[in-house]
Amino acid sequence: MEIAGNVAVVVGGASGMARATAEALAGMGGKVAILDLPSSAGEAVAAEIGKGTTFHPCDVTDFEGTEQALAQAVEAHGALHFAVNTAGGGAARRTLTKEGPHPLDEFRRVIDLNLVGTFNLNRLQAHHMSRNEPDEAGERGAIVNTASIAAFEGQIGQVAYTAAKAGIAGMSLTMARDLGSLGIRVNAIAPSLFATGITQGIPEEFEARLTKDAAFPKRMGRPHEYARLAVAILENPMLNGGTIRLDGGQRFAPK
Ligand SMILES: NC(=O)c1ccc[n+]([C@@H]2O[C@H](COP(=O)([O-])OP(=O)(O)OC[C@H]3O[C@@H](n4cnc5c(N)ncnc54)[C@H](O)[C@@H]3O)[C@@H](O)[C@H]2O)c1
Repeated sequence: MEIAGNVAVVVGGASGMARATAEALAGMGGKVAILDLPSSAGEAVAAEIGKGTTFHPCDVTDFEGTEQALAQAVEAHGALHFAVNTAGGGAARRTLTKEGPHPLDEFRRVIDLNLVGTFNLNRLQAHHMSRNEPDEAGERGAIVNTASIAAFEGQIGQVAYTAAKAGIAGMSLTMARDLGSLGIRVNAIAPSLFATGITQGIPEEFEARLTKDAAFPKRMGRPHEYARLAVAILENPMLNGGTIRLDGGQRFAPK
């Protein structure tokens, strides 16, 4: 689908991979709405990107509040064609430790943030997209979600995160099938380690150790490399129902 002139909602867009994607889309003539936490830098980032970029505060674990923020974003720009969703995170805890079994509420919190939060966004984003007139190729919209290579080779202490990210990866094909008759595509990106947020300040020597299992390059990914793939997915109608690894050939070892 053509980026220029079409509307993108970028969730988590105040930082990291989503911020780079918001910048790329706005630079290509897309109209961009950033959704992110009220405490994030969303307002300042939207102003910095400019070109009509708007900010709509929300917490994706507040499912109703997110519905309202998304509706405001769509109202501000008049439609929704693209969604890129990165809000998420994990918890470091093993299935069983000396303190006892993994607390269920912590497991649920990670599932809510990543999996339920993403599905809530997707069902609402698809609803807004379904109201578009299809373009000449029959497309009404495209969604990019963010999994992780931990979806496929989760490390020790990542059980909740792995379950959530594997859920996101697993939903791609089913949602693509559900929404295919409407001309709405769904894909996910599964990054390896990327230099964003807390991982941004990791010293080079430690970075080399963390990425020693990569084929090439042996380094963390950069936000603009995620953005390039997200844009390619949004533009290319044959990319659908998949989860694309963005990992320099890295396979996580147990730890
Ligand atoms: N950075 C990595 O190494 C890496 C690797 C694989 C997957 N991921 C996934 O990428 C996503 C994080 O993106 P990033 O690495 O660019 O990180 P980041 O910290 O730079 O950006 C994440 C953004 O999401 C926002 N956010 C967090 N919780 C939110 C919530 N509840 N509601 C609304 N917004 C929220 C944050 O405020 C922040 O602006 C997560 O889904 C993470 O699991 C990251």
